[in-house]
Amino acid sequence: MLDEPKLELHPTYPVRTERLLLRPLTADDTDALLAYRSRPDVCRYVPFAPMDREVIADRLASQWALTSLTDEGQVLALGAELAETGQLVGDVVLFFHSRTHRSGEIGYVINPDFEGNGYATEAARALLRLAFEDLGLHRVVGRIDERNEPSAKVLRRLGLRQEARLVHSEWFKGEWSTELDFAMLADEWRAQM
Ligand SMILES: CC(C)(COP(=O)(O)OP(=O)(O)OC[C@H]1O[C@@H](n2cnc3c(N)ncnc32)[C@H](O)[C@@H]1OP(=O)(O)O)[C@@H](O)C(=O)NCCC(=O)NCCS
Repeated sequence: MLDEPKLELHPTYPVRTERLLLRPLTADDTDALLAYRSRPDVCRYVPFAPMDREVIADRLASQWALTSLTDEGQVLALGAELAETGQLVGDVVLFFHSRTHRSGEIGYVINPDFEGNGYATEAARALLRLAFEDLGLHRVVGRIDERNEPSAKVLRRLGLRQEARLVHSEWFKGEWSTELDFAMLADEWRAQM
């Protein structure tokens, strides 16, 4: 019988990609986070409302403070900065949903000033690598509002398959939202490497 994976993630920071460094967020990122997370257009299809300085400080001290994943229910949020300049272009998140099902979920937000450069895809691909190769997940999903086409393109570029379209499944920010569910299995990740 195969050894059970330990299902823990302790990345060595920064996690390097071709153009980015992924690393935990700190209080020094407050202004850069505020620049995009306070914008209603950025928050249109994400589960949070535009943030102010206080909310960001609170998140930095709580759910964004984790630097490793040791159990289900935990979330790892990482800032993505340009290796060349040190500018924060966005942030990515990995949810560890279940030990039993070895499942998780990814999310990403990019500052509109830096959109259209492939940074979300590059950062999220690094997150998938951490999820499958280091944490040992079996299945990772991405769930988006159907109208969020740039996000659907990111998931498709990463190689996630669309599995479901949940018509008007959630009352979201004052209207019914249709959710698209995408997924990738560890075997699929290995096959595309
Ligand atoms: C969703 C979101 C991250 C997509 O951002 P994005 O910049 O379009 O996505 P990427 O960073 O992967 O960039 C891809 C684009 O850059 C282009 N690009 C330019 N240079 C590139 C390069 N060197 N490598 C790869 N792509 C490049 C691609 O062609 C693509 O453009 P296209 O979609 O017009 O074909 C962004 O719109 C966002 O943060 N939205 C608000 C938050 C949100 O909704 N998050 C998702 C919640 S589910």
